[in-house]
Amino acid sequence: MKIFITKKEIKSYLSSLKEQNKSIGFVPTMGALHQGHLSLIKKAQQKNDLVVVSIFVNPTQFDKKEDLINYPKTIENDTKLLKSVSCDVLFLPSVKEIYADDISSKKFDFDGLEHQMEGKFREGHFDGVGTIVKTLFEIVKPNKAYFGQKDYQQLQIIKKMVKKNRLKVKVKGCPIFREQDGLAMSSRNARLTDAQRKAAPFIYKTLKKVRKKFGTENATIVTEWVENQFKKQPLLELEYFTIADKKTLEPIQKKESGKKYRAFIAVFAGKIRLIDNIQLKN
Ligand code: PAJ
Repeated sequence: MKIFITKKEIKSYLSSLKEQNKSIGFVPTMGALHQGHLSLIKKAQQKNDLVVVSIFVNPTQFDKKEDLINYPKTIENDTKLLKSVSCDVLFLPSVKEIYADDISSKKFDFDGLEHQMEGKFREGHFDGVGTIVKTLFEIVKPNKAYFGQKDYQQLQIIKKMVKKNRLKVKVKGCPIFREQDGLAMSSRNARLTDAQRKAAPFIYKTLKKVRKKFGTENATIVTEWVENQFKKQPLLELEYFTIADKKTLEPIQKKESGKKYRAFIAVFAGKIRLIDNIQLKN
């Protein structure tokens, strides 16, 4: 596996491969890699001649300093994992390499997608994500880029950014990879206490029940039911639960045939914020 830390070096390496018509699959990450990340890499390997993974804990997408400071950093283990799955290229830039002396986001207009859910609770988060992903796309110039449905709103926002800026990359969404007990894999799971970790699968259990209930009940009733369920959970605090249009991410008013919906949830286990979502059948 080749490892690059400067833009200049990775660009020059990849441009020579592009001249040989090699297709590049790209998986941007913030490290602390787990099976969820690896499932994206596997997808990328199936469809491209080589796969580039980036690890960069992007300061501009963290709304809370504490979360940035405590974000797990496990670079040695990450490198081992990437080698074990035959990743071709790792891009590992410093903050200075990416932002020089101006660690700030550009402002983006994602046609309203950014004002829903995560956007309401994480000020400036999607400007930070847009800024870093656009920058990385400009450096790597991938044919295809892979993102998890775990961060479904992020995935939709990146698709929108690519469309609005007419970038050439094809953005691919990949299924949520879960622990055996259903908890969506996340780098943040490692920070849960044993008791919180035991409580956390309740999130996905509830989402599965939501999918069932939504077949017969309306969204208001389902939402109230979810809120009540979480009141009975001492270790989990519900931040939001929303049923939204799968494309516009606008909260549902009334079920309409022909529209598809998804349920989205954010929960605190102590200070650790966990998110998850599920496709609904109407
Ligand atoms: P990070 O949280 O490291 O996630 C990197 C990619 O892995 C994202 O596309 C995310 O959706 C995907 N992913 C995480 N957990 C997953 C799971 N359990 N199943 C499937 N995919 C999963 O998301 C980011 O980093 C950053 O915002 C980034 C896009 C790299 C920009 O900084």
